[in-house]
Amino acid sequence: MNASEHGLIGSSRAWLRAIDLCGRVANTRATVLLTGETGTGKDALARYIHRLSPRRERPMIVCNCSACPAELLESELFGHERGAFTGAIHSRAGLFERADQSTLLLDEVGDIAQVAQAKLLRVIQERRFSRIGAAYTQESDVRIVATTHADLRKLMERGRFREDLFYRLNVFPIHVPPLRERREDIPNLATHLLGVIARRNRARQSGMTEEALALLVSFHWPGNVRQLQSVLERALLLSMGEPIARDHLPSEITAGWIPPEDGETMTSLTYAHRLMVARSLYEARWDYSKAAGQLGVSVHILRQLANRFQLKRD
Ligand SMILES: Nc1ncnc2c1ncn2[C@@H]1O[C@H](COP(=O)(O)OP(=O)(O)OP(=O)(O)O)[C@@H](O)[C@H]1O
Ligand SMILES: [Mg+2]
Repeated sequence: MNASEHGLIGSSRAWLRAIDLCGRVANTRATVLLTGETGTGKDALARYIHRLSPRRERPMIVCNCSACPAELLESELFGHERGAFTGAIHSRAGLFERADQSTLLLDEVGDIAQVAQAKLLRVIQERRFSRIGAAYTQESDVRIVATTHADLRKLMERGRFREDLFYRLNVFPIHVPPLRERREDIPNLATHLLGVIARRNRARQSGMTEEALALLVSFHWPGNVRQLQSVLERALLLSMGEPIARDHLPSEITAGWIPPEDGETMTSLTYAHRLMVARSLYEARWDYSKAAGQLGVSVHILRQLANRFQLKRD
């Protein structure tokens, strides 16, 4: 079964590399660290790893580290005995206990407070933990998958993330590339997401115009797939069953649009390139080094491209 049968769309090299790594590590018990910008699909890949793993029969347990206040995180992870603290009326199993023989997803692990980092390190090292207030320790056979949009190395340098915990988590890192580095995936992704959104809203959909697609492909997507999803959702509602067109897209997506030149079609490669360069320059307010960084080329190359395409600021 390949990833698209799991609803994961993409055939770019960068995406397939991430998919391939997920497939290789799924069968093991190795700790996986999924890194990448917001909305790139880290959660989706964590679920994919779990579904490919021998642990798939049990539900994956999720700890949303950024949403859980530091004081609660310990009891959330390890559970507590009755009377362990004020308000502990019943004893309760923590996520490590519930994830026994399954996968524990530590979502946004970079947001864990320092105190909790030390406790997490201990349980990862020893595979043993105790409920708060319990006199005994217990074992749990847990496979950990962690995600982070933050650069843990940077947090580590600033002393905000423990180095020893970092190395425990960074056993099998998988980087999920941003959408602008795999633009060739955008047409299929958009078609897939439109179908999903239409079904969910019981709305009719008639695809999109070539112009709209050219705009989607050339945008830089700071919010990645999640942003694409919400842009399409809004566009579908506005389009009332007609193909999605430029008018249905928000102004941030249509800004800097230039029409194809004589002899160019909306889908020709030169137009796609020209549109991409023009829009990056527009979005970066003609700051060449910013636009070049976004496009992944040098400033020198970008100047050459702008000349060749006769792009001028106005
Ligand atoms: N390749 C893909 N194919 C289909 N849907 C995808 C793909 N990648 C991401 N998605 C969808 O995009 C949305 C965002 O993905 P997800 O929540 O996994 O991102 P994330 O990296 O965890 O984001 P955040 O950093 O905000 O938590 C989800 O609805 C997910 O199903
Ligand atoms: Mg996430």
